[in-house]
Amino acid sequence: MRGSLPRTRPLFLASLAQLELSVSLPDSDLARVLVVDPIAPSALDELRTHYDVTVRLRPESAELAHLLSDQDAIVLRSGIKLPGDIIATAPRLRVIARAGNGVDNIDLDAAREADVQVFNIPSVSSRAVAELAIGLLFSVARHLPLADRQVRAGSWRKASLAGTELNGKTLGVVGLGDIGSYIAAIGLGLGMNVIGSVGVRTAERTKQWAAAGVGLTTTAEVLATSDMVVVACPLTDFTRHLINAQALAAMQSHAYLVNVARAGVVDEPALYTALKERRLAGAALDVHTTESGTPALAELDNVVLTPHIGAMTHDAQDRIGRTLIDGLELALAGHDAPTRIC
Ligand code: MLT
Repeated sequence: MRGSLPRTRPLFLASLAQLELSVSLPDSDLARVLVVDPIAPSALDELRTHYDVTVRLRPESAELAHLLSDQDAIVLRSGIKLPGDIIATAPRLRVIARAGNGVDNIDLDAAREADVQVFNIPSVSSRAVAELAIGLLFSVARHLPLADRQVRAGSWRKASLAGTELNGKTLGVVGLGDIGSYIAAIGLGLGMNVIGSVGVRTAERTKQWAAAGVGLTTTAEVLATSDMVVVACPLTDFTRHLINAQALAAMQSHAYLVNVARAGVVDEPALYTALKERRLAGAALDVHTTESGTPALAELDNVVLTPHIGAMTHDAQDRIGRTLIDGLELALAGHDAPTRIC
């Protein structure tokens, strides 16, 4: 069992110690932690005071496998995929710490098989993601990036920038979890008529949401009747490509779509076609199928694209950093982090 591996010195140091030689223990006596995605600088500083930390941002998979071969823990976000073969060939690995919410980039079965604890940090960035979703809605409905480009180019064509107000419109939220609930609350505050859908709709939940001023209905109804749709559901077998060509065809041609759900929930080629054919007024995406390069959607003017920055506020990253340090300490000591997944 990997948990029984010592977090202490390598064997050759142990034998030197047995010979009663006086050696000062090097940093390698500490548990080794590999950080492959950006985390708050204050959290990184603190990690360095407890562990032997290596930072290598977003290595290719061969380099990742090599780096991980002598590490006790890895800290990652959504920018890295951690497949089963890499987990299985990391003999010291005991902890995978996901500095964020989604764990779809980690092979959880392989982690289970290898007795590696995986924990994540849900909820603390939900407000940040919800605020970004509303920001994206404003940006696309008021053509902010386009307006900004006009001013920078010295070409002021205000008539081409007439936008849409949010007040009085119907906001449809697909997925009323932590993030979706905040989005719904902000929408209500903006004077929007808010409806939403959840995975399992019960009479009790419908009543609770109605009391909060939100109409709980089907996703089909949300898509067909909303002026603005925000997708904020988790990625599951059921939600993969939930927003496909058929779903997009059901939306109104004056409607806007915002995606802050995991990549894969929205079928990006289908969205590209719908936007190009002007069957939708516009879309904004913070989450993309690949986390680098320029998506095909960037060719279109009625689209706002951000590089998965929903959780990127100093506030949220500080909260994530704090929780990460506490979780790592517990997990490396062989205990369960409060948000242990497997
Ligand atoms: C999350 O799951 O919390 C997000 O993907 C944030 C991130 O990793 O950047």
